[in-house]
Amino acid sequence: MIPLIYGSTTGNTERISQLIAECWPGNTPLNLISIDSMVNADIEHASSVIIGVPTWNFGELQEDWEEIWSSFCEIDFCGKRVALFGLGDQLGYGDWFLDAMGMVATQVSQKGATLVGEWPVEGYDFESSKALTPCKNAFVGLALDEDTQSFETRDRVERWLNLVYPQL
Ligand SMILES: Cc1cc2nc3c(=O)[nH]c(=O)nc-3n(C[C@H](O)[C@H](O)[C@H](O)COP(=O)(O)O)c2cc1C
Repeated sequence: MIPLIYGSTTGNTERISQLIAECWPGNTPLNLISIDSMVNADIEHASSVIIGVPTWNFGELQEDWEEIWSSFCEIDFCGKRVALFGLGDQLGYGDWFLDAMGMVATQVSQKGATLVGEWPVEGYDFESSKALTPCKNAFVGLALDEDTQSFETRDRVERWLNLVYPQL
């Protein structure tokens, strides 16, 4: 089982997690775990992890992520492959678009994770984001915007999953 860990305040990231499970093309099943019921062992026992992160409050972590953050920062990600997906609102919060996904990416990378599933910035309109790769032509994971581009979501999820599942 590959754990898919997510936090969600208004339900968008939870719904996308279910969509990812529905569209998952791999043979190893996904295990959806809400971050508020996660224990570190859920990740520590896995070699691959999918993580879903919405951004809240002008570039901050979502509240459930905030609560477990210090404990999450203790997890050793050496030898683990991690695929991230982030939710945000590029028009309403374009100066902080998907920042929390960038914070999680930085944290797991510092702890030794190999990130998979970069996603091109084409097709998005925003000012600034902490979720960009160093050369700024890609996000560190799948970028989703249920507030202004929900019509793109299913197609983006399907294309991203085909890209990441062989790497997980
Ligand atoms: C008060 C508020 C603050 C937000 N702040 C940001 C932000 O800083 N950056 C961003 O990209 N999206 C921001 N968003 C958009 C949310 O990330 C987006 O609605 C997301 O789909 C919520 O996911 P959830 O329902 O799983 O919590 C904000 C939304 C609200 C209502």
